[in-house]
Amino acid sequence: MVKGKKWILEKHFQGMPKRSDMKIVEFDLPTVPDGSFLVEAIYLSVDPYMRPYSARLPEGITMIGTQVAKVIETKNADFPVGTLVVCQGGWTTHSLCDKTNSGKIPPYPEGVPLSLALGTLGMPGMTAYYGLLEICAPKPGEVVVVSGAAGAVGSVVGQIAKIKGCKVIGFAGSDEKVAWLKELGFDEAFNYKTIKNLDATLKSVAPDGINCYFDNVGGEFACTVVANMAKHGRISCCGAISQYNDTAPPKLPSLFGTLVSNEIKMEGFIIFTHLQRWPEWTKQHIQWIKEGKLKYKEHVTEGFDNMFDAFVGLFSGANTGKAVVKV
Ligand SMILES: NC(=O)c1ccc[n+]([C@@H]2O[C@H](COP(=O)([O-])OP(=O)(O)OC[C@H]3O[C@@H](n4cnc5c(N)ncnc54)[C@H](OP(=O)(O)O)[C@@H]3O)[C@@H](O)[C@H]2O)c1
Repeated sequence: MVKGKKWILEKHFQGMPKRSDMKIVEFDLPTVPDGSFLVEAIYLSVDPYMRPYSARLPEGITMIGTQVAKVIETKNADFPVGTLVVCQGGWTTHSLCDKTNSGKIPPYPEGVPLSLALGTLGMPGMTAYYGLLEICAPKPGEVVVVSGAAGAVGSVVGQIAKIKGCKVIGFAGSDEKVAWLKELGFDEAFNYKTIKNLDATLKSVAPDGINCYFDNVGGEFACTVVANMAKHGRISCCGAISQYNDTAPPKLPSLFGTLVSNEIKMEGFIIFTHLQRWPEWTKQHIQWIKEGKLKYKEHVTEGFDNMFDAFVGLFSGANTGKAVVKV
């Protein structure tokens, strides 16, 4: 008899997640109730938000997450066997889903992988669209800085900013990533781990100040960027991955003087608040992909049992583009 497998959060993470904080268990596949369907995972997503979010989950729970999956048994006529869905199944090989936690994957252009439903055509892509266009609202010719620029969100942010006619400056953690950002059309790209002086670097490439900052990393890096914002600059606070594994409260320089004197707008957001607009944004991303204006990379880890490694790899910069796990 086929058994499912799932990853359990055994212990809340302290600092960097440890393999012993999680365990894999097997389970019998459930009976499908009316209105539901059973899916088998094809690709699973690992995302930075899982680290801070897991602190709010009870220990012993199946790790949360999104997957691309196929319906293998159904009691819902709208989701026949074989339907491909994106669902909130968590870190599981099999899960019971219904229309409240699943959506059908629309037809993709030829050659576009299904896994993109977890990246450029999924949550990270929508995050880039909303955070850049609706919060920063960049105008042609303005300077946009993006951190975490070679990741799932950042690489899309930089390309959309180029589509909108901006000067785009990206920061990422290796020379290979920097080279990829240049290929994507970023005007300037830097390895933040090897530049000598971030403040001087920003002043040299944005002498009149930064109009828009899309912040994926937080911490001291973000403080230095904010100190270089132009008058009426806009900051989209998307994430703070540099701080997710901290065990002590941050002690950072105050930003408020610059925010006041330069009349800067700084706004945080959670992309799941804007679910109703995802179909519209997905359509736009598909169009840009077809036109060759939006490119993507995926970092694919093979094997469900390797999910933990794929997850911690996010914190050492192992991924270029979207990190996914192929079952
Ligand atoms: N607000 C929302 O609704 C929302 C939605 C999705 C994602 N997010 C946030 O957006 C950010 C990017 O997410 P993503 O899915 O696109 O992840 P990602 O960029 O694909 O992967 C994480 C990357 O972060 C970088 N990183 C790791 N530790 C770092 C550190 N200490 N300092 C600087 N960079 C570090 C690494 O790249 P390097 O090699 O460049 O260091 C790594 O590859 C995260 O902060 C995430 O939490 C927010």
